[in-house]
Amino acid sequence: MENNVSMEQIISLCKRRGFIYQGSEIYGGLAGTWDYGPLGVALKRNIEQLWWKRFVLDREDMYGMDAAILMNPQAWVASGHVAGFSDPLVEDLKTQKRYRADHMLEAANIDTKGISLADMDAAIKAHKILSPDGNAFGDVRQFNMMLQTSLGAIQDDSSITYLRPETAGGMFVNFKNVLDSFSPKLPFGMAQIGKAFRNEIAPRDFIFRVRELEQMEIEYFVAPDTWAENFEKFRKEVWSFTQDIGLTQDAVHELEVADEDRAHYSKRTIDFEFDFPFGRKELYGLAYRTDYDLKKHSEASGTELAYFDEETKTRFIPHVIEPSFGVGRTLLALLTSAYKEVQDEKGETRTYLAFPSAVAPYRACVSPLLKNKPELITKAREVFTMLKKQFGNIAYDDNGNIGKRYRRQDEIGTPWCIVVDFDTLGENPDLLDTVTIRNRDTGAQERVVIQDIVKYIQQ
Ligand code: GAP
Repeated sequence: MENNVSMEQIISLCKRRGFIYQGSEIYGGLAGTWDYGPLGVALKRNIEQLWWKRFVLDREDMYGMDAAILMNPQAWVASGHVAGFSDPLVEDLKTQKRYRADHMLEAANIDTKGISLADMDAAIKAHKILSPDGNAFGDVRQFNMMLQTSLGAIQDDSSITYLRPETAGGMFVNFKNVLDSFSPKLPFGMAQIGKAFRNEIAPRDFIFRVRELEQMEIEYFVAPDTWAENFEKFRKEVWSFTQDIGLTQDAVHELEVADEDRAHYSKRTIDFEFDFPFGRKELYGLAYRTDYDLKKHSEASGTELAYFDEETKTRFIPHVIEPSFGVGRTLLALLTSAYKEVQDEKGETRTYLAFPSAVAPYRACVSPLLKNKPELITKAREVFTMLKKQFGNIAYDDNGNIGKRYRRQDEIGTPWCIVVDFDTLGENPDLLDTVTIRNRDTGAQERVVIQDIVKYIQQ
């Protein structure tokens, strides 16, 4: 599906309205980092809460986790990340700037699906592909994306560890702890939301490819012969989540990932792709990780990570289905889906974000019609306080004229604008204790009794 919104429009709105700022902006920024402002963090929390509700609270077979970002480095050696978590890199021979080799080939319209490192190198040379600065490239090589750090007062090889590249690791190493504490029966899962770090060669496309990211991940442990049916169940669940948060459904697509393109631990992967303004790209991944991780961690740690089936009296290593969701990519897909421009009755362009109520940073905004009339302000504050107690995320706005306030709230996706006017105070006795409520998407206004506002908004 074509998305008409451009990245420039999204980035400009995000900065102007306080969703997302460049990381360390006053120092010139830091590539691959972004800071979520007051509205961005509200949106992010709402996305995470909907995810947690669907995948943890509404189920009986899921155990929440919040594992440490720093882990014993042996865990990442065992998982294969230290040796194999890499992307293909090429270097501009003149400027020494580094690029993703596959991105350079894609920019030249050369398909990179399933292509080996040697073939990428050959293609760059055969097609005489140059760097964005017009210079020749060196050989294509692998670049490890693990972000390394040192712990403790002495910095030597023994102090090296890594910031986790995926939240998954913290769940695999706690498999036995959860088994011992809760004695769950298979199938069961562990779920976690948290930061992960990747030394991306070329962070780009705003919050799409960053070095500090946030993931919402599940490791779902199953009996080996049931992996396919559980994979199908999660495939449907991923689609349902995209509906929960209001992603344009025909902009979401499944891609069966080819053998050569799958991560080292996966025997089957479906990528859920989204039509972003810069093209169709990965939004989420659903992988069948087999018993790869538990087996590797068992071998490396010497702790048996197995499950004893009481019914069959057998002990085995469970297999894993892993749905993995990037928070930033969800937010970008949501902004792309929600961004609307319409012509108003005066022929002017009206921009609004059509977020579902459960996702919108503010559920409603309360205003007095005029800001210099104390009696209007008193009543508006009363309505605001009542709604704030009920919902929490309610805005109060008395800046500028009412038209400007509507524009502002439209642009940040507030579904309802509630205005207290002189009729609320009884100028028209028939309308005493009523307010106008304006619908963000249609601009239509209705008169509603103050006592009924909560019900009205909840619907
Ligand atoms: N545990 C599996 C795993 O990490 P992945 O495909 O590498 O698999 C999962 O990442 C999801 O994390 C992606 O589908 C995407 O939503 C998000 N993600 C990965 N790398 C990212 C990056 N550099 N910036 C933003 N999001 C990223």
